[in-house]
Amino acid sequence: MDAIFSCLLLLATLFLSLSLIFRVNKRNLGSPKLPPGKTGWPLVGESIVLTMAGPEKFIKDRMRKYSPEVFQTSLLGEKMAVFCGAKGNKFLFSNENTLLTSWWPLSLKKVLLFPSFVDDPIKEVGELSRGFLHDILKPEALKHYIPVMDSMARQHLDEEWTPHGEVKVFLVSKKYTFGLACELFMSINNPDHIARLANPFTLITSGIFSVPIDLPGTAYNRAIKGGKMVRNEILMIIRERRKELLENKETTYHDMLSRMLLVTHENGEFMNEMEIYHNIMGLLVASYETTSAAVTFVMNYLAELPHIYDGVFKEQMEIAKSKGPGELLNWEDIEKMKYSWNVAREALRLMPPALGAFREATTDFTYAGFTIPKGWKTFWTVNSTHKNPKYFPNPEKFDPSRFEGSGPAPFTFVPFGGGPRMCPGKEYARLEVLVFMHNVVTRFKLEKAIANEKMIFRSSLTPMNGVPVRIHPHEN
Ligand code: HEM
Repeated sequence: MDAIFSCLLLLATLFLSLSLIFRVNKRNLGSPKLPPGKTGWPLVGESIVLTMAGPEKFIKDRMRKYSPEVFQTSLLGEKMAVFCGAKGNKFLFSNENTLLTSWWPLSLKKVLLFPSFVDDPIKEVGELSRGFLHDILKPEALKHYIPVMDSMARQHLDEEWTPHGEVKVFLVSKKYTFGLACELFMSINNPDHIARLANPFTLITSGIFSVPIDLPGTAYNRAIKGGKMVRNEILMIIRERRKELLENKETTYHDMLSRMLLVTHENGEFMNEMEIYHNIMGLLVASYETTSAAVTFVMNYLAELPHIYDGVFKEQMEIAKSKGPGELLNWEDIEKMKYSWNVAREALRLMPPALGAFREATTDFTYAGFTIPKGWKTFWTVNSTHKNPKYFPNPEKFDPSRFEGSGPAPFTFVPFGGGPRMCPGKEYARLEVLVFMHNVVTRFKLEKAIANEKMIFRSSLTPMNGVPVRIHPHEN
């Protein structure tokens, strides 16, 4: 008995010593020093904690607790390093294609793409025809859309604002921005047709950044269903339009779809229908919630802060007075809207419609003394700079004068990102927001119906009551 006991004791001591030696050696062998932080629960990681706390608090707490430069977490089923501050933004924006590449969550890929495309990185959303997208979204190409935006804004206010004493801006602005996108991207302007696209589209946007659990009742499951419906509808539109072109019908379309159907690759081939579908869908998804949120939050501040409203009103009335009766806005008018754009930028700083963006490390690399292993995902975020007093003194104060002169320090104001992947729709968004501001303030005075409305975080910042605003038409 004693012999067995001694034997067991010896084995246990040996095991303990070996494991200690192994641990020490492992440390000596230089296991990577990963960024501090925790990865939460299996699969869901810290996704639920992020949703509960909201992105601003989530980031702020971790910057304070772990590191103001970079921390690790796990979101959307992935190990992730969150880069913080202007230095972190600069690093990620400057190392595109050398250390990092674009990465989109599996949930987004599965919802938007045909299953066979999901594992083919060459055909990812955004990768495809990026040069072409930049081309059709540059200012010279968008100038012609300003009168269309203006007349659609007028019609929208006639139908959705004027008949009511109060509007929920968050809800109606989605109608305006989606209707405009359907018109400018595909010349779809029939209200029934727009509704056929809009209804499943809302399912997509509320589920593309969810945890990828495909069970009935989950946001992800609904988004996949919505994705299929929108995909079929868009493919039908593309096929009909291509048929018209092949039949040599005189086309009067000036939309983005027409340009996509006519553009050729370097080898002279036209884009196939899946490529066109991905481009159109990419544009719709990227613009839908972002622009409607931007419009909403600008309206929110105009209704809340009379002195800001007065400044915008003065600028926009000067432009309105310089126009003939019924004359639509043009590029020269937009160029005069300097104060209004500073107001819009300040709203984008305080209420950013996009939280940031992901990348994937293509090699092991070191940042701020920590190793980011190959395959890890990275995230840059507006939340580490936009309300950081180091970059924006008195950060909670709404102060458009921050954008006068040379404006904020580089890499601190990043609602559209930066570097080679900076949002190609930035100019489209600027025009859309400014045209809307012009139309609203020249017709109405705004008043908030609910003070200090609570914001909740779904896949983006969402006002709990939809920003209800009382509207008072100006007396002529
Ligand atoms: C206020 C409105 C908008 C905001 C705040 C916004 C913000 C962003 C951000 C943060 C990114 C990620 C950049 C990165 O990967 O680092 C992005 C990407 C993108 N945005 Fe926007 N966006 C807005 C409107 C639009 C509009 C109107 C369009 C199209 C008409 C658009 C098209 C795109 C596309 C195609 C990408 C992917 C670019 C790529 O991966 O190369 N966005 N946007």
